Amino acid sequence: MSEKPILGVIGGSGLYRFGALKDVETLEVDTPFGPPSSPIVLGTLEGKRIAFLARHGLGHFILPSEVNYRANIYALKQLGVEYVVGVSACGSLRDDYRPGHFVVPDQLFDFTRSRQRSFFGEGLVAHIGVADPFCPNLSGLLYRAATSSGATVHHGGTFITIEGPRFSTRAESNLYRAWGMSIIGMTTCPEAFLAREAELCYAVLAHVTDYDVWHTSEEPVSVEMVIRTLSENVQAAQEVIRHLVGLLDGVRTCECPQALSKALITAPERIPP
Ligand code: ADE
Repeated sequence: MSEKPILGVIGGSGLYRFGALKDVETLEVDTPFGPPSSPIVLGTLEGKRIAFLARHGLGHFILPSEVNYRANIYALKQLGVEYVVGVSACGSLRDDYRPGHFVVPDQLFDFTRSRQRSFFGEGLVAHIGVADPFCPNLSGLLYRAATSSGATVHHGGTFITIEGPRFSTRAESNLYRAWGMSIIGMTTCPEAFLAREAELCYAVLAHVTDYDVWHTSEEPVSVEMVIRTLSENVQAAQEVIRHLVGLLDGVRTCECPQALSKALITAPERIPP
């Protein structure tokens, strides 16, 4: 591998390739948790190296519950990446977050049931802090990047992650709205939590593809609807990333690089006699 990539981009549904990259190098990597969802593509954007990986595999064959989130984050960390942006399609649970808009959420609600959600376990115990699950600095830059790319973007909102792969019932969708959730997707948990454990700066660029199923004057979400809006949005998402890369200087002043020093960590061999 040549120069260390500054940014890792995890592409969600619809974003399987990053067309604008130059001097592309494709890496087949492995991790202690198995292989990541796709080969990692290294390339140059705005004069800087970035790493791209497709969360659902090339061509979308991995279900949200079956994504190897640990391998994906581990593989990016192994390459020396310090910033990670997760790009995700989402449904909107509010009137003003419309299909075609972007959202940089600031909160996360984990409603998943069955996923490997930590690098810890098997005798190594750590309780990481995730009160603010997204890196505030990277989220701020991402919002600036989206604004300067000309996209309509909202800064803030709570992103609920459901297990999927099915969409929600109307009762569920109305309950999430009553709970104050803003957008809904299937993959940000545990990706954000693993990134924090790995001491990476992590932010989400969510693009709204539908109004889920609560909206009385819109048709309920369907795969066809998601794909239609997605194909309009993926080009715009790449433009946002291009603007973001121009803003990144590699100096991290947030608390993400010290996440583990604040976690309670115990392991049998570390307990004094
Ligand atoms: N991804 C895109 N739209 C979604 C929705 N309505 N619910 C869950 N995940 C989604």
